[in-house]
Amino acid sequence: MTNRAADLFARCFGHAPQWIVAAPGRVNLIGEHTDYNDGFVLPMAIERYTVMAAGPNTSGMVTLHSLTTGETATFSVRGGVKRGEPAWSNYVRGVIAGFYQGGKKAVGFDAVIDSTLPYGGGVASSAALEVATATLLEAMSGRVLDPLEKALLCQRAEHEFAGVPCGIMDQFTSILARKDEALLLDCRSRTTTPVPMTDPTVSIMIINTNVRHRLAEGEYAKRRQQCEAAARALKVPALRDTTLAALEAAQGEMEPVVFRRARHVISENGRTLEAAQAIQASDWPAMGRLMYASHASLRDDYEVSCPEMDAVVDIVQSIGENGGVIGCRMTGGGFGGCAVSLVQADAVPSITRAVDGPYEKRTGKQATIFSSRPGGGARILK
Ligand code: GLA
Repeated sequence: MTNRAADLFARCFGHAPQWIVAAPGRVNLIGEHTDYNDGFVLPMAIERYTVMAAGPNTSGMVTLHSLTTGETATFSVRGGVKRGEPAWSNYVRGVIAGFYQGGKKAVGFDAVIDSTLPYGGGVASSAALEVATATLLEAMSGRVLDPLEKALLCQRAEHEFAGVPCGIMDQFTSILARKDEALLLDCRSRTTTPVPMTDPTVSIMIINTNVRHRLAEGEYAKRRQQCEAAARALKVPALRDTTLAALEAAQGEMEPVVFRRARHVISENGRTLEAAQAIQASDWPAMGRLMYASHASLRDDYEVSCPEMDAVVDIVQSIGENGGVIGCRMTGGGFGGCAVSLVQADAVPSITRAVDGPYEKRTGKQATIFSSRPGGGARILK
C-alpha cells in the first residue's frame, strides 16, 4: 500500500510524497454500544488500513484525492476550516480544524488517500481516516500528540464535522492497538488491559454483509438518547453504574423501549468482562456463547441488526462447533456492515464456502469475507 500511495501521489502531483502514514480499521470482538455509556469494549485493530501520502504546498489549500471514491476535495485552511463537500472530506477537515485550534497556523498540503477498509462497513473506516489525518499532521508539524488527546481530537471531528455522536472506541483502537492483542478498554477511565490473541489455532473472520450502514441518519443518536433517558430514570451518571436488578426494579419508570435499550447495555458490559476472561483462559466455548448472546441482545433489545446480518449469524451458527465455528455476532454500529466470527484456523476455507452460497440464496446479496490477525495502531511510514 505504501508503494501504491507513493506512485499515485507522484502521478497526481508530479513529485514524490514527503510523508506517508497509515491507520488501521478495527473489529470489535464484543462490547457493542457500551462505549458511550462509560462501559467496556473489546476491540482489536485489523490488518486493513487507510494510507495517506502527502506533500507540502504553499497555497494555503488542501487538495485530497480519494482512491476509494475517485473524488477530489479542495479547501482552504486560511481563516479556519469549514464543513463541505464531498461528505468524506469532513473527517479530514474536522481533524485539521481541531489540530490547529488555539491559534496555531494551519498550512496547506496535497495528499492521496488509499484504503483497504470497506467504506461504511462497520470496521471504523471513518475513524481510520481521522486517525490517519491526525498522524499526518503530527508528521508534518513535528508535534506529537498524547494518544488520548489524539483520540479525542478525532472523536470531536466525527461529532462536529460528520454529525455522528460516536463513542471513543474506534479512534482509540486505531491509535493504541498492538499486534497480537485485543484491547479491553474501560471507556470511563480510558485505561486499557491488553488481552493476548496469540493462539495460532484460532482465526478471526470478518464477514461483510455488503449492506452499507449509515450512522448519520439518526438511529445511532437516538440510541444514545435512549440510554441517557434510562440513566436519568435510574438516577445514575451512566448505565455503567447500574445492574440488571436495579433496572428491573425501575421498569415502571421508563418506556418499554428505553428499558430494552438499557438491558442490552448493562448485560453487554457483563459479557465483555467475561469475554476478556474467556479469551485469557482459552475458553472458546464460553467465548462463543457470549458472542451469540451479544448478537441476540443487539438484534432484539437494541434493534441495530438487519435481516442480512441475522442471516449471516444464523448461517455461521448452524455450521456449528463441528464445522470449526466458535462464535459469531454483528460488529460495529450496526444497521448493516460486518459480522465478526471466531473460528478454528484450519476451517476458514470450508466456512467461507459454507457462508457464500447460502447467504446469497437467502438475501440476494454477496458477502465479502476476509481474515485478520490483531494488528498494530497508526504509524508514520515515511
Ligand atoms: C460506532 C461508534 C463507536 C461505537 C460503535 C458501537 O462504531 O463509532 O463509538 O459506539 O458504533 O459499539
